[in-house]
Amino acid sequence: MAFKIKTLTEYRDSYQKSIQQPEAFWAEIAENFQWKKKWDKVLEWDFTKPEVKWFQGAKLNITENCLDRHLETRGDKTAIIWEPNDPNEAAVHLTYKQLHEQVSQFANVLKNNGVAKGDRVCIYLPMVPELAIAVLACARIGAVHSVVFAGFSSVALASRIKDAQCKILLTSDGSFRGNKTIELKTIADEALKETPSIETAIILKRTGGAVTMQDGRDKWWHEELEKVDNNCPAEEMDAEDMLFILYTSGSTGKPKGMVHTCGGYMVYTAYTFQNVFQYEEDDIYWCTADIGWITGHSYIVYGPLAQGATTVMFEGIPTYPDAGRFWEVVEKYKVTQFYTAPTAIRALEKFPLEVVEKHDLSSIKVLGTVGEPINEEAWHWYDKHIGHGKAPIVDTWWQTETGGIMISSLAGVTPQKPTFATLPLPGIQPVLLDDEGAPVTGSPAQGKLAIQFPWPSIARTIYGDHQRYKDTYFSAFTNKYFTGDGALRDEKGFYRITGRVDDVIIVSGHNLGTAPIENVINQHDAVVESAIVGFPHDIKGNALYAYIILHEGVDGNDALRKEINDLIAKNIGPIAKCDKIQFVPSLPKTRSGKIMRRILRKVAADELDNLGDISTLLNPEVVSAIIKHRV
Ligand code: WT7
Repeated sequence: MAFKIKTLTEYRDSYQKSIQQPEAFWAEIAENFQWKKKWDKVLEWDFTKPEVKWFQGAKLNITENCLDRHLETRGDKTAIIWEPNDPNEAAVHLTYKQLHEQVSQFANVLKNNGVAKGDRVCIYLPMVPELAIAVLACARIGAVHSVVFAGFSSVALASRIKDAQCKILLTSDGSFRGNKTIELKTIADEALKETPSIETAIILKRTGGAVTMQDGRDKWWHEELEKVDNNCPAEEMDAEDMLFILYTSGSTGKPKGMVHTCGGYMVYTAYTFQNVFQYEEDDIYWCTADIGWITGHSYIVYGPLAQGATTVMFEGIPTYPDAGRFWEVVEKYKVTQFYTAPTAIRALEKFPLEVVEKHDLSSIKVLGTVGEPINEEAWHWYDKHIGHGKAPIVDTWWQTETGGIMISSLAGVTPQKPTFATLPLPGIQPVLLDDEGAPVTGSPAQGKLAIQFPWPSIARTIYGDHQRYKDTYFSAFTNKYFTGDGALRDEKGFYRITGRVDDVIIVSGHNLGTAPIENVINQHDAVVESAIVGFPHDIKGNALYAYIILHEGVDGNDALRKEINDLIAKNIGPIAKCDKIQFVPSLPKTRSGKIMRRILRKVAADELDNLGDISTLLNPEVVSAIIKHRV
């Protein structure tokens, strides 16, 4: 099977082979990479344990595939174009040769600071080239990176550092976002009070703001670089050695540290990058995500670089200095593939069309979306005004846990259908299940989305908690990976993801669990109990609505609402703030004490005429009180 799928027939053939002979199929795809030693066995798996191993016995280093192997043919090609927050600041272009040198040099900085294979490195950096360099430098020496999105709070950072027992923290003095400056080092200092595992913090100068450097712990990035050379041989890794940990919210409890391993992740992200985006040698590919999320890991860094692509990294936000920034950057670099989130599209479509039309977007060949279902209106706006009706749109469904794109059209090769992710990629075997776990056959159909066969980039475990991995993903349905999403399948077999079926809410494309936010709210002295639900929001997709019971005598006013949101921002991050907060006398509960979220969701969405049966509630009278005072 060819690595690059160019026609619908080739897609069908690849898909067939990937189902009928998965091992032969993936072995052939894996031949396209540089291995220090080939595998002894392509796949070993058991979803009941659960255990998945790809390319066992193989040895490699992913950075040799992302960097070294391109040096001869693409040494002077631009690997990364970095566009700063401020359009007047100089951009940075790093060739493959330069990136290779800088990664090697920073890898030596890590080694020089005692970091060895298997050690965990926490990276808390803005979207600067050094973030990509740091990620690759870890991979170079076999250290495990744990990138924490720089919008997260000190409490969130501390809990992630503690969970992974990170030895070193990489951060910066501050970060620029639009017209704001955020003091990252101050936030990190707060976190580091609680993280004894951290021996060293290396601080990048980005904003030039004042910072306090703790003697013996804190070191300047630029000073550390001066101590080492740029020659660093790549560590030999087992295919199943850990490459990174990335945290994602669960519906309950603390964030889950999803573990991805070297071999399968490399093969799958490169293969899907190539085929979904139909990347060609001189293309300029831009994914607007942050490297703090899986999208950035797989489709800014590893996938594109493994394919020798030019990948754009953007430090800023879509609306700074104005709402035309994305389009200005597309024009500036003649971007050919543009990949963003529906929430960004919905936000930008609210501005006058002149903002778009004054830019030349004719370079665009492919458009992509990720992170949440895209609505019809946003899809058509994107198609018409950004793609001029000529650029195929790939609606890519996947998850932090899946490592790479699972269901999507291949740009211009397989059919597209507005609001449908469409067809599974080769190797992906989706099934729709009813509540009892029976497959819903035929089409059209609707059900819970599960995957019944392993693919190379599936997360192998939750760091330090394999039982939770099993409970969360492999216990709902025997022998299947459960995604937590609902989906429908049309008569052609195209999938449309309808949204979460658990207590995870996708806000602006970010995965938020309700329980962790409720736990934070409940910490407030005035609060007895709380329940959070999502409600439709025309830009964010969903926004959060909190129902909160206060202690007797406490006045539920706007000052308290702000205090509660500040507490959420401090403990989780501003993305988890609630748009609406309603103080309620009590919460609707079943006789077994479970909050009836279905009713709360309906009230939040203003769907009052169809509340369903409330007679089984312990306290049905509360429903009318809640409706009467809804905000
Ligand atoms: C959840 C995973 C994958 C990287 C970004 C999010 C939702 C993701 C789509 C899509 C409809 C989507 C799902 C999924 N989702 N892509 N194209 N259409 N929904 O990663 O934070 O792990 O969230 O995002 O609900 O389960 P994540």
